[in-house]
Amino acid sequence: MTKADSMLLRVQGLSVSYGGGPVVNQVALDVERGAVVALLGANGAGKSSTLRAIAGLESSQGSLYFDGQDISSTSYRERFQLGIAYVPEGRAIVSDLTVAENLTLGSYFVNRKVRAQRQTMVLDFFPEIANRLKAPAGLLSGGEQQMLAIGRGLMSAPRLLLLDEPSLGLAPKLVARVYERLSVIQKEQNLTALLVEQSFHVAAKLAARALVMRHGEIVGDLDKETLNSREGRQQAIDAYLGAQQVA
Ligand SMILES: Nc1ncnc2c1ncn2[C@@H]1O[C@H](COP(=O)(O)OP(=O)(O)OP(=O)(O)O)[C@@H](O)[C@H]1O
Ligand SMILES: [Mg+2]
Repeated sequence: MTKADSMLLRVQGLSVSYGGGPVVNQVALDVERGAVVALLGANGAGKSSTLRAIAGLESSQGSLYFDGQDISSTSYRERFQLGIAYVPEGRAIVSDLTVAENLTLGSYFVNRKVRAQRQTMVLDFFPEIANRLKAPAGLLSGGEQQMLAIGRGLMSAPRLLLLDEPSLGLAPKLVARVYERLSVIQKEQNLTALLVEQSFHVAAKLAARALVMRHGEIVGDLDKETLNSREGRQQAIDAYLGAQQVA
């Protein structure tokens, strides 16, 4: 297998703007099969815009290839059906629907039997929500809502999961729990994911590689060793983000 073949996602020259100058500027990145790649950066760096453009939720310029296929001009729905699932920032669950109904939303195009199998798998990963299936999702705790949002993303058995800040607004203990589950899922399902986070420390739990984004551009590419060494992280923080980003 050549390097290009092992890449599930290839992004080249991706730019997004909301009327003014580009907030994502000529971004290139690759995600290889079975790997979790983190996209790190401070508030406003352009991380969510990048992820949303890949999901097909923002109009963008540039080229996107998924499993070798040019998907640049496909819709969100088409990308979803190809296997790209997006879990937005801020635990965007539907609070008036039940937990079970929220899970169903993540798998609307599969048949009942497959849906039931996937639901069993998701609930195995997240037992906290397994006995709350009939409860309105809005009554779950913050950590449980995040588990539900990730679980909903997994309901489509995605080939690529786009995860936007799963740690946002969660207490450290809950962040640890969510990440512990994500590690299990990654190992058992050989999950491929592009993971947005603000913290090096959090991303290092899961990611094999981290890209650092600043002012809409990728300014750093860190391997696992660097991510896991305190010194490497500190150097990257100093070089790329400035002192406010102590992780
Ligand atoms: N819908 C929008 N309309 C106009 N400007 C936007 C819109 N969404 C984002 N922006 C701007 O684009 C820039 C990048 O935002 P983006 O949400 O991608 O950053 P981010 O890295 O995800 O930040 P955070 O860590 O705070 O979530 C910011 O300056 C933001 O204000
Ligand atoms: Mg964001």
